[in-house]
Amino acid sequence: MDDLLHQIDSYKKEITEFSADKDAAETFRIKYLGTKGLVKNVMGEMKNVPNEKKREFGQVLNEFKIFAENKYEELKQTTDNAQLATGNSIDLTLPGDDLPLGSRHPINIVKNKIISIFQRLGFAVAEGPEIEDDWHNFTALNLPEDHPARDMQDTFYISQNPDWMLRTHTSNVQVREMEKGVLPIRIICPGRVYRNETISARAHCFFHQVEGLYIAENVSFADLKQTLYFFVQEMFGANIKVRFRPSYFPFTEPSAEMDITCLICGGEGCSVCKHTGWVEILGCGMAHPNLLENCKIDSNKYSGFAFGMGIERITMLKYQVKDLRLFSENDLRFLKQFTSTV
Ligand code: PHE
Repeated sequence: MDDLLHQIDSYKKEITEFSADKDAAETFRIKYLGTKGLVKNVMGEMKNVPNEKKREFGQVLNEFKIFAENKYEELKQTTDNAQLATGNSIDLTLPGDDLPLGSRHPINIVKNKIISIFQRLGFAVAEGPEIEDDWHNFTALNLPEDHPARDMQDTFYISQNPDWMLRTHTSNVQVREMEKGVLPIRIICPGRVYRNETISARAHCFFHQVEGLYIAENVSFADLKQTLYFFVQEMFGANIKVRFRPSYFPFTEPSAEMDITCLICGGEGCSVCKHTGWVEILGCGMAHPNLLENCKIDSNKYSGFAFGMGIERITMLKYQVKDLRLFSENDLRFLKQFTSTV
């Protein structure tokens, strides 16, 4: 038994003096704590210890085991710290993490392009709330309650307050600008709008618009035509022709819809333009006197024009996208194909 005690003592001395070089912790673990290590070995001697001494020896052996384990923890700490200090754990020669470049959403690319074209004509960007009250979305726009034209713009209402709704067009921003009473006004209003539509390739319950408004003295329909003609040429190219068809909007009089040469067939006639050679891109007209008066603008002194277009529609024509739902499906294979040119 004394031999065993001597043996343990000499191991302890060895352990205390075990030096902390680079691989010390691992070497130590293998030598003392591994399956074939010395601690296990000494433990194995237990079977040779007479029964009456087992208890006493058990304690010595246990204490020895803890002694070795503590040393191992200590060595591990020192080697880990040493590695950190010398930077060994970080390999600076490894290539960096790949951060893929994003791309703009096609709707945003086209929105920015539309904005930049009108900015060159002196239009400023104005924005407003997407949750709107009845006055700014409908009534001020000469669409009083029970007006049948409201049916074309059914939307989502907010149950706590029946006066609130998700705006159906960005014309609400035009009303808000006019109410400020600072004239002349020359604004474009980009933004998201909502309608209670069944989702299909051509309609969605939300989409994006850019509307425009110009109010000053002596604004005429000729100004409207020339402004929109400039826009179309900048947007789609110099060879594009436009035509105006009479239409109806409660907030404009007279009202028109504007068509451009079909970009798919160049005006020859195809299935996209239903063999007419033309596709509709926006609604427009001269601001209705009731609209001006509702916003406390003297309709005898001032006149103006307004127009509104769906960004999705322009984008579909520009990039020949056939299904509107692609814009909101977040499919990267689709979205990555568009590069911003603005
Ligand atoms: N606000 C109309 C719509 O969303 C578009 C429009 C704007 C038409 C301005 C004429 C003048 O349908």
